[in-house]
Amino acid sequence: MAAPIENTFIRELEMKNGENLKIHQLEVGDVGCVVWDAALVMCKYLETADFDAGESWRGLDVVEVGAGTGVLGVFAAAYGAKVTITDLPEFIPLMNLNIDTNQHHITGTAKAESLKWGEESLGRTVDCVLMADCIYYDQSLGPLVETVRSLCSDRTAVYCCYEQRTTGNKPELERKFLEMMQEIFNVEDIPLERQDSHFRSEDILIKRFWKKSVTEVG
Ligand SMILES: C[S@@+](CC[C@H](N)C(=O)[O-])C[C@H]1O[C@@H](n2cnc3c(N)ncnc32)[C@H](O)[C@@H]1O
Repeated sequence: MAAPIENTFIRELEMKNGENLKIHQLEVGDVGCVVWDAALVMCKYLETADFDAGESWRGLDVVEVGAGTGVLGVFAAAYGAKVTITDLPEFIPLMNLNIDTNQHHITGTAKAESLKWGEESLGRTVDCVLMADCIYYDQSLGPLVETVRSLCSDRTAVYCCYEQRTTGNKPELERKFLEMMQEIFNVEDIPLERQDSHFRSEDILIKRFWKKSVTEVG
C-alpha cells in the first residue's frame, strides 16, 4: 500500500552555506517515515573536510539505500551529486515529495527509485553508496549486503552510518552485518574528530567500506 502523503511534519536541516533543507516526515507509518539521527550525522559529515567542505560530491554518481524520507540523498544532491534515492516502492511518493520540496537547493540531480534489497538491482555500479540506520532486522542483513555489493566496483566508497543500539538482538545484528560486509569489504571507522563538530555522537558510528582486492578475499 502506498504511504499516505497528507499529514506531514517538517524536519529542517541547515547546510553549511546557510540554506535550509525542509524534509517532510509522515505522522503515521513505518520506520522510514521519519528522519533518523544517524541520517543527520551522516548528512553533516558530507560537508566536512573529508569531502573538501562538500565540494567532492559534485558530479558523483551516488545511490542511497534504505533512504526513507531521502534526507541524505537530497543533502548529497544539494552538494552537486547525481543521486538515486532508493527504498521500498511505498516510499517513492515521500522521497519524491522531498526531492520536489528541495529542488531549489539541488545543484546536482536527484531521483527516487524502488530498490528492494536482494530482490531488485539498479544494473550498474556507482561512485558512492550511502546508508543510514539500515541495520535493524535479521532477514534483511544478507539481502542488504548483497544489494550494496551489487552497486560496488573496485572504486566505490560505501558510507554506512548507524546508531549503536544495546537492547535485544541489536548488538547481534550489528555483529552479523559487519561480519558479512568484511567478507567483501575493507572497513575504516570514521573518528568523531573528522565528523561535524555538533552533529556527532559516541553511539552513532560512521564506517567507510571499500571492496577488497582479489588477493585480500580470504
Ligand atoms: C530505520 S529506517 C532509516 C531511514 C533513513 N535512512 C534515515 O536514516 O532517516 C530504515 C529504512 O530501510 C528501508 N528498508 C527496510 N527493508 C528494506 C528492503 N528490504 N529493501 C529496501 N529498503 C528497505 C525502510 O523502508 C526504511 O526506510
